[in-house]
Amino acid sequence: MSGKALLQQYQQRVEALLETEINTTSHAEKVRAAMQYSLLNGGKRVRPVLVYMANQLLQGDLSNADAAASAIECIHSYSLVHDDLPAMDDDDLRRGKPTCHIQFDEATAILAGDGLQALAFDLLSRPTTIAPAIQLQMIQSLARNSSHQGMVGGQSIDLSNEGKRIPVETLELMHRHKTGALINCSIEMGALSSEQASTEDLTRLAHYSDAIGLAFQVKDDILDIEADTETLGKPQGSDLALEKSTYPSLLGLDGAKHKLAQLNQQAQDNLASFGDRAEPLRWLANYIVERQY
Ligand code: IPE
Ligand code: IPE
Ligand code: MG
Ligand code: MG
Ligand code: MG
Repeated sequence: MSGKALLQQYQQRVEALLETEINTTSHAEKVRAAMQYSLLNGGKRVRPVLVYMANQLLQGDLSNADAAASAIECIHSYSLVHDDLPAMDDDDLRRGKPTCHIQFDEATAILAGDGLQALAFDLLSRPTTIAPAIQLQMIQSLARNSSHQGMVGGQSIDLSNEGKRIPVETLELMHRHKTGALINCSIEMGALSSEQASTEDLTRLAHYSDAIGLAFQVKDDILDIEADTETLGKPQGSDLALEKSTYPSLLGLDGAKHKLAQLNQQAQDNLASFGDRAEPLRWLANYIVERQY
């Protein structure tokens, strides 16, 4: 199957799971509706796709990757809802639609993010056929990578550096936390869900995900300059307006693109020993650097 067909298959698989999960009755219909709105609004689902691809690389049972795939998308969607709030990036468009706090209200958007975060851990801790010790490792990976040691830490570094010119080392640290951490976690949970990941597999895959995680945010920074709002589905130029340090702002557009190519090469190099089975992950690294939104 081509990389693109596989991407679509996994996108549809996780969409269906998320739809079932959030389409329930609730005594708090407002926040449930806001969670549903934020979850089912046309994201690319790159992180769940990585979970599935890593599971399949190591010949796992695909259904054992479902909980992790849904959980990581819940965390990611929550991070976007909060990222768009007035206290953070103050953006009004996300995935081509009004952001959660515009469609609903600020308090509901905060609660929807909180609810999505809790739902992620609910999903991941449910009874499963995965060995309990491995399931715990997956839960811990999601917790750590979402925490001040991961995504939340990166968001904090991002906000405290608005309006400042920071060294490229600090920028890299910020990107590895705010975006890289959840991408690392996707690959790690996917590999763990196969129940066949050796320490060596996990190390090589961690090097791969380090590279694509940073590449993902470098490309996001480039798109903020080069794409248009309609294609992006979020406001073009948001970084410039908020005086964020980005790869293009520190290295120039050409420098940022050079960095992107280097990172893709690093990602590809770390898959070499996996042979043909790594073809989907090779394709996905190319997709991350070539995507138009
Ligand atoms: C946007 O993530 C935020 C970043 C971490 C760069 P995506 O580009 O994956 O957004 P969706 O999920 O496809 O909307
Ligand atoms: C967001 O980075 C990263 C997280 C939400 C964790 P950005 O602020 O650059 O993401 P976009 O551009 O708004 O999607
Ligand atoms: Mg932000
Ligand atoms: Mg933002
Ligand atoms: Mg951005």
